[in-house]
Amino acid sequence: MFTTSFTQLVDIQYPIVQAGMAGGITTPKLVASVSNAGGLGTIGAGYLTPDSLRTTIRAVKELTNRPFGVNLFVVQETLPNEEEMERMNRHLDLIREMLGIERRQRIYRYSESFEDQIQVVLDEHVPVFSFTFGIPSQEVLKHLKHHRIVVLGTATTVDEALQLEASGVDAIVVQGSEAGGHRGTFGTSAMDALVGTMALVPQVVDHVCVPVIASGGIMDGRGLIASLALGASAVQMGTAFVVCVESGAHELYKEAVLRSHEDETQITFAYSGKAARGIRTKFMQDMNGYPGKIPPYPVQNALTQDIRQAAAKQRNPEYMSLWAGQGVRLTTNRTAQAIVQECAQEAMAVLENLDGHRNL
Ligand SMILES: Cc1cc2nc3c(=O)[nH]c(=O)nc-3n(C[C@H](O)[C@H](O)[C@H](O)COP(=O)(O)O)c2cc1C
Repeated sequence: MFTTSFTQLVDIQYPIVQAGMAGGITTPKLVASVSNAGGLGTIGAGYLTPDSLRTTIRAVKELTNRPFGVNLFVVQETLPNEEEMERMNRHLDLIREMLGIERRQRIYRYSESFEDQIQVVLDEHVPVFSFTFGIPSQEVLKHLKHHRIVVLGTATTVDEALQLEASGVDAIVVQGSEAGGHRGTFGTSAMDALVGTMALVPQVVDHVCVPVIASGGIMDGRGLIASLALGASAVQMGTAFVVCVESGAHELYKEAVLRSHEDETQITFAYSGKAARGIRTKFMQDMNGYPGKIPPYPVQNALTQDIRQAAAKQRNPEYMSLWAGQGVRLTTNRTAQAIVQECAQEAMAVLENLDGHRNL
């Protein structure tokens, strides 16, 4: 019933991908549960060191023999503007003082090395590799192909999807503006590429030949059927899994997602220097008044790391990053297996219901 070009490509039962969500959410248990339930679990590995990525992959392999994925960030390394960075750091000191944590001196390391992370993906023969924020080099893509790893890229416009297809990816995750977390935009300014899932998916489908995976605001079987109707071959869900039992998200983060409404998220650059959608917080509001330029990702992300960590320890969600999409009101605390299976069951019921309408 749910056999699509994507389920065949990666050998899964249901066209449901659990988004790789960096930052400790996608525990091995979550990833394996999704894969064991017939979907595709994904390790959000953007912030993992190569060693912890290897350990996580092996932990997932212990828990499932079904296909799963690893997701990484393709980060454009830019030299930070020292003056910009220093100014931001002094501004953040005001927040550090308020939280009672130490002032922070210069930071020398902003992110993990993509090359070292990808080497682990190759060594471990991970079945599926997905990426966001750009396109890896042809050399990297060649190695992935050589290892028979299915490769998924992320697009937020038709033009980005065309670039991804030309680079040789096997399928494209199309991220609408409803989506929680970071925008994958790489071909234009992120604020110009805020196209909703309903509008974006069919436009991409009309322009590429590879399978399209719809993402952004898809929370249940209704969203799954709507996405298939738009021409997608699968859906990728993030926010729905943030609150699941196996998710490693902080308890206060889960609570905030579970009680938030559709109009309570916004796109901000404040936490990481890259556009991302999350539940509105005091930190976002404070940063609205920042007079300078927010340093780009990954510099700002590194600068705010201690603040986010301290806030989590102090149980103060207002200074944590609460990434979530516009579908928040549809979240419920269940197991990952229940999310996948209920989504598939509901999709079947929706189809039957639609069939009923046809005869009216
Ligand atoms: C908490 C969170 C973290 C995310 N982290 C990543 C990530 O590391 N890599 C990635 O490609 N997408 C990431 N995303 C975006 C998802 O891939 C996907 O586009 C999005 O979750 C879909 O919208 P939804 O949240 O409404 O389901 C993240 C999303 C959330 C909610």
